[in-house]
Amino acid sequence: MEADVTLTGFSSTDVTLLLRWLAAPHVAAWYLDPEDHVAWAANPPPNGERALIAVGGRAVGYIRWQSVSREVLDSVGLHEIPSGSVDIDILIGEPEFVGRGIGPRALLVLLSKLRQRRDVPMLGLTTSVQNLSAQRAYTKAGFRILREYSPTGYGPCYLMVYNLNENA
Ligand SMILES: CC(C)(COP(=O)(O)OP(=O)(O)OC[C@H]1O[C@@H](n2cnc3c(N)ncnc32)[C@H](O)[C@@H]1OP(=O)(O)O)[C@@H](O)C(=O)NCCC(=O)NCCS
Repeated sequence: MEADVTLTGFSSTDVTLLLRWLAAPHVAAWYLDPEDHVAWAANPPPNGERALIAVGGRAVGYIRWQSVSREVLDSVGLHEIPSGSVDIDILIGEPEFVGRGIGPRALLVLLSKLRQRRDVPMLGLTTSVQNLSAQRAYTKAGFRILREYSPTGYGPCYLMVYNLNENA
């Protein structure tokens, strides 16, 4: 059994770590705009938050989440997603920690944190239809494929959701 999986604070000095993870081949294949991610992490918007994923205190990955407005959801064609839903991105940056169940466990930690807010109807993750590892990991955390869509520049993707109201 792995040591505890926790979400710990991300500070400006962690940007270097994030840059290294985004450049690792197993991550770079799916994260096409590393500069955007780093800029976001260094200075997140008011409705966004981020954290390091730590195992037994060692930082091995990164997770970010952001509440999404009606306007933004409609602009990407996600009309059926309730406003105030939270969009999540995740990566396990250290290659030797991939495939050990840490991603799903980090998602469960975030899920329980967001449940406490009581103002989040749904959580969503977007992943390429080709990213089978991500789909398996998200399914383990309780997410299900809602439908396919094509966000600009990313090709066919699945929107995977977790409905906090249905799973109260
Ligand atoms: C997607 C990701 C967050 C999942 O987290 P994780 O902790 O690796 O998840 P899991 O351990 O549950 O593994 C999920 C699946 O990955 C696959 N897998 C196992 N070892 C693997 C390895 N060394 N490399 C790639 N995939 C592997 C398996 O299919 C596994 O499913 P299974 O356990 O049912 O067989 C993580 O693999 C990752 O960060 N990958 C690179 C970046 C990425 O794809 N981010 C998501 C973009 S949408």
